[in-house]
Amino acid sequence: MLLLAKPLLSTIQQTTTTYLADHGLIWKKVVIFLWSDDVASRVYVQSKQKYGQKLWLQVEVIQRVDIQYDEAVALIHHHNQDPTTIGMIIQLPLAEQLRPYQADLLTMVDVHKDIDGLWWVGVGRSLVGQWDFLPATPKSAVGILDHYGYGNVSGKIILVIGQSVLFGRPFALEMIKRGATVICGNSRSPVGFLQSTAQTADIIVSATGRRHLIDRSRHSSDWSEKVLIDVGYGIQDGKAFWDIDWEYFVDHVAAITPVPGGVGPMTVAALFHNIIDLQTF
Ligand SMILES: NC(=O)c1ccc[n+]([C@@H]2O[C@H](COP(=O)([O-])OP(=O)(O)OC[C@H]3O[C@@H](n4cnc5c(N)ncnc54)[C@H](OP(=O)(O)O)[C@@H]3O)[C@@H](O)[C@H]2O)c1
Repeated sequence: MLLLAKPLLSTIQQTTTTYLADHGLIWKKVVIFLWSDDVASRVYVQSKQKYGQKLWLQVEVIQRVDIQYDEAVALIHHHNQDPTTIGMIIQLPLAEQLRPYQADLLTMVDVHKDIDGLWWVGVGRSLVGQWDFLPATPKSAVGILDHYGYGNVSGKIILVIGQSVLFGRPFALEMIKRGATVICGNSRSPVGFLQSTAQTADIIVSATGRRHLIDRSRHSSDWSEKVLIDVGYGIQDGKAFWDIDWEYFVDHVAAITPVPGGVGPMTVAALFHNIIDLQTF
């Protein structure tokens, strides 16, 4: 089965639009800081812009590849104080000169406007179970699992490949909170270990941006009960690529997200839906 985002999208869009209208937030501003020339980021930003406009929001993209730290800080502070700005996104990855300051910059965004959900206090409150909140990308993957009946992961083994602050860590945490046994891999994990864990995992989630990291060569046992979630997305020589060769696996697993049409569009919707969740902080 293909785990498509489409059946979830109209409900989440409707809920968000209704909330914005009921709270006088129509035509307020969401600002996206695009501080890199990353090609995949440009694609993400375009889809965020398009979706935000569907919700009757202004989406302002501030693209500056050569921006320096002080200017970046000033812009964040400006929008923290601007009452017409209700959401901010610092699009990752950052340009080289800002990378050492990534954590600093992310945590400067006013928590009530941090629709990406990467602010450490928010993450911490969620960790101890004080607040039910997820950053947009894990919220998307979890939303898809829940919608298709795979969200009860208690007792399941989940392999999460990629452990960024943006996705892998908060996703793994959510799965742990739900009672799963979670194994997280990164670029330094022994390949053989990931390979053997993939055979036993009930759910495999990949978020690396490495083309076809999971291809047919990984498939060495019966995978017919497995669920595969692909978060990875990249562009090389003008062509899109993703982590999992879903066109092969769709015939060999219980369920899988395609790219495009899976986690990506749902992430954009989840991002704007976080405007609602942030009100409960
Ligand atoms: N679909 C969506 O909505 C959405 C949203 C956000 C991001 N993305 C995509 O998701 C991917 C990951 O994004 P990110 O921001 O999390 O990236 P990131 O910060 O670069 O993290 C990538 C993670 O993958 C690990 N990794 C890299 N190569 C690996 C390998 N060969 N084997 C195992 N692990 C490996 C890295 O390991 P180390 O920790 O050792 O470096 C790191 O933990 C990208 O393709 C991005 O475009 C998609």
